[in-house]
Amino acid sequence: MRIAVFSAKPYDQQFLNAANGKGDHELVFFDAHLTHATTALAAGFPGVCVFINDQLRAETLRAIAAGGTQLIALRAAGFNNVDLPIANELGLTVVRVPAYSPYAVAEHAVGLILMLNRKLHKAYNRVRDDNFALQGLLGFDLHSATVGVIGTGKIGQCFSQIMHGFGCKLLAYDPYPSQVCLDLGMEYLPLPELLAASDVVSLHCPLMPQTHHLLNAESLGWLKPGAMVINTSRGGLVDTPAMIRAIKSGQVGYLGIDVYEQEANLFFEDLSDTVIQDDDFQLLQSFPNVVITAHQAFFTREALSNIAETTIANIDQFAGGEVCSNQVK
Ligand code: NAI
Repeated sequence: MRIAVFSAKPYDQQFLNAANGKGDHELVFFDAHLTHATTALAAGFPGVCVFINDQLRAETLRAIAAGGTQLIALRAAGFNNVDLPIANELGLTVVRVPAYSPYAVAEHAVGLILMLNRKLHKAYNRVRDDNFALQGLLGFDLHSATVGVIGTGKIGQCFSQIMHGFGCKLLAYDPYPSQVCLDLGMEYLPLPELLAASDVVSLHCPLMPQTHHLLNAESLGWLKPGAMVINTSRGGLVDTPAMIRAIKSGQVGYLGIDVYEQEANLFFEDLSDTVIQDDDFQLLQSFPNVVITAHQAFFTREALSNIAETTIANIDQFAGGEVCSNQVK
């Protein structure tokens, strides 16, 4: 099957070509995102393969369907960038990679916690500058700290298991409690109570209309003053201007993010020679107690290999006329 692969970085090409070992499919790689402006690139391809910052809104879907596309293969678990009702209406099949390495994302979230707590981002620069002073690097023991986990699915469970190993007290908020987390002794609480009791809050729920700006001016006010917030899930879970006000007031003491609501204009590109126009992002960058990574939590060899293999298996199933086990409806 001929597939137009959008937002294709060298590492995507490497892992997809390896998974497509026998060359069953003709993969044509485009660096460009798939947006309404780039739909011409998809013309004549029965399949497109896209990532999280490709924007598959109604007009884009109509254009690619008119150009002959039937399959949208997401190289991701989240599908909030695809207008599913319109895709269904147009008869487009949407497939995804439901899980590729929950460990990768959970471990990155833990990395952000350790970095912020022990101020490793500052310590690294200080020592390189022969500044061996400790003033300003004071952290706290994670052992016995209370960690609130919002969303205890695959990633939230891995994260909870790691934090359990640190000796943390673990709380959870999720409409569907996980047996793994209950077995760890975790207590499920309503959101206001979890936020009020946690020293660290980590977001692991999907972005949906119900979770959009889950952390907003009101809910940030429920936090324990000076708490740490970690978001490796989706930028839209957090109201950024409200978060900035909470950091300025001290209500949020530390923020670690791997995702940002307006990241589509920034992440995955080298913009080091560019003047960034996003004032909220620049303000966050300027705070000493904020660490930002550019949506790299998934970025391990194991995850890329699993993403590529599942994507090719999804395309195999569609090309073979089978019902796709990873179809999003
Ligand atoms: P999952 O589907 O296994 O778990 C999601 C959990 O969130 C479920 O237990 C669900 O019941 C819960 N949930 C649903 N609505 C909720 C609500 N209103 N409040 C609290 N919990 C709610 O998903 P998985 O694999 O654990 O992934 C979680 C999220 O992580 C994804 O949706 C994606 O946005 C993000 N992600 C980020 C990556 C990165 O590189 N930064 C990579 C992969 C995923």
